[in-house]
Amino acid sequence: MNCSDPIGVFDSGLGGISVLHTLKQILPDENYIFFGDSKYNPYGIKTKEEITARCIEICDFFMIKKVKAIVIACNTATSACVNLLREKYDVPIIGMEPALKVACEKGKHQKIVVWATNFTLKEKKFVDLMSHFENDHEIEKIPCPKLVRLVEDDQLENKHLIESTLQSYIPNHSFDSIVLGCTHFVFFKSYLQNLLKDVSIIDGNEGTARHVKEILMTNDLLNKNGGTIEFHNSLDSEISLSKKLYSFLDTYERT
Ligand code: DGL
Repeated sequence: MNCSDPIGVFDSGLGGISVLHTLKQILPDENYIFFGDSKYNPYGIKTKEEITARCIEICDFFMIKKVKAIVIACNTATSACVNLLREKYDVPIIGMEPALKVACEKGKHQKIVVWATNFTLKEKKFVDLMSHFENDHEIEKIPCPKLVRLVEDDQLENKHLIESTLQSYIPNHSFDSIVLGCTHFVFFKSYLQNLLKDVSIIDGNEGTARHVKEILMTNDLLNKNGGTIEFHNSLDSEISLSKKLYSFLDTYERT
């Protein structure tokens, strides 16, 4: 394995581009290969076996591309098979989970809403995570499948549709924070913050990117001179949308 080898980043579709964007900010000199599985999106309503089979196919592709690490930029895929992938492949594999801990650390008796896919919320990984915090905090789980669709359908400029969809998932009682437990939802962070000025909107992208940096440092794999990004998708037609979404995040951050 060489430092200049790429990092493979994948998602069930285009949500993981938000993770890729954060990775590029924290590790600008790495070379990245992003694979979006839009043809098989959404994963959130599939079985564990179906999701695992897709993840294996994508990781096999990354192995051919000689990646030095794999980031599962998808909470759903992580809950389905991160352990199996770690056993099967001989490179560091970094997964994601809803950043519930960050929300709980904001204070005592927090009222927390977790938005994620139905699959993530029902899987053992999240149930175990929740059991650490649910005695001390009020945690409400809400699956939000329509938000995944908005990203895949290139609706990020459709302010009216976005706001009404976000509203349909916002509980009508008070709460302290929303945890965005699906990488697609991160595209809506500013919209949501505008709707809910006093609520903390929390996602796991930065924590994940910092974790990737630590793993690369520990394994002496940090690259010094690179910075390329290659986009792949199980639907060729989605490559241009992938690039558009990536630049959307550039503009989004400046506003
Ligand atoms: N982006 C995925 C996640 O973080 C889920 C989207 C889907 O249902 O495929 O969970």
